[in-house]
Amino acid sequence: MAELRLEELTAQTIVAARNLALKPGQAAFIAPETYVHVEQDLDPAGSWPRVVMDGDHLVGYVMGAFDADATEDFLKAALWRVHVEADAQGAGVGRFAVQALADEARRRGFDRLTVVWASGEAGPEEFFKAVGFEVVGETPYGENLGALAL
Ligand SMILES: CC(C)(COP(=O)(O)OP(=O)(O)OC[C@H]1O[C@@H](n2cnc3c(N)ncnc32)[C@H](O)[C@@H]1OP(=O)(O)O)[C@@H](O)C(=O)NCCC(=O)NCCS
Repeated sequence: MAELRLEELTAQTIVAARNLALKPGQAAFIAPETYVHVEQDLDPAGSWPRVVMDGDHLVGYVMGAFDADATEDFLKAALWRVHVEADAQGAGVGRFAVQALADEARRRGFDRLTVVWASGEAGPEEFFKAVGFEVVGETPYGENLGALAL
């Protein structure tokens, strides 16, 4: 894998990011129920979507959501999405994306990054733990609330 880099979304990459092929069973985990219920409260100005490029090839997508004034702590600096193309998984792209978002959160003055995920066979639990998130609670929808100290 060449050197990974982040890029802002363009008309072309939005489509490619939406069409990233995942592994069987993974699509069920990309939108936790907890997030679906609070999505309308997100401040669009705090949205931080980026694609991860490996040379000319789009291999991942990450979206952060920032809102220092959010009433819920887990919406202040949140990892909203991270997807890595099936063929590029297991090579550090996801870790790179999370680190980039953590750097951005730190730059904005936050001291922790949070994420919500559902437990399950093809889910991201082991990934989130491997990159440093600790389970700090459970949401009202029975999903895991993880936090990464920055
Ligand atoms: C979760 C996901 C983003 C991980 O991306 P990735 O590029 O394969 O992850 P990386 O290669 O950077 O792995 C980083 C660490 O996590 C570990 N890891 C990743 N997936 C794992 C799995 N399924 N089981 C166990 N460990 C896993 C890796 O072993 C690695 O650990 P190490 O550095 O200690 O060796 C990817 O599998 C994916 O896109 N899943 C579908 C979408 C999804 O569920 N997103 C999260 C919710 S939006």
